[in-house]
Amino acid sequence: MKNIGIKILAVCTILGASSLFADGADLYKRCAGCHGINGEKKALGKSEVIKAWDTEKTFAALKGYKDGSYGGAMKGVMKGQVIRLSDDDLKAISEHISTLK
Ligand code: HEC
Repeated sequence: MKNIGIKILAVCTILGASSLFADGADLYKRCAGCHGINGEKKALGKSEVIKAWDTEKTFAALKGYKDGSYGGAMKGVMKGQVIRLSDDDLKAISEHISTLK
């Protein structure tokens, strides 16, 4: 029985390490350079301040940048940011932004 315990532990460790769950705070780090660590900046002097935007609003904007249906003159910049992120990643980031103060 000892062996089974060790195997279960090993499986859990592997699953934990492969980041099955998107971590919004971690993903947001790549955004902070332009938007500010707390979302307090106008990115490149152009975007709105996104701090504390609610989850749905941010998610809709990010999805829109991804499929080209949202954005202003600099939407190309944002498309490059979100194009390789999954919907789950975008959701996690949106939830994180809603918690910024
Ligand atoms: C290279 C700088 C840069 C980075 C990095 C960046 N953004 Fe942006 N972001 C911008 C700019 C510029 C705009 C305004 C684009 C436009 O004209 O619509 C913008 C707009 C936005 C908006 C909509 C605000 C508005 O004005 O409507 C959201 C939400 C957003 N970004 C979230 C993010 C998230 C989340 C990330 C990380 C995955 C990110 N951004 C990374 C520059 C950046």
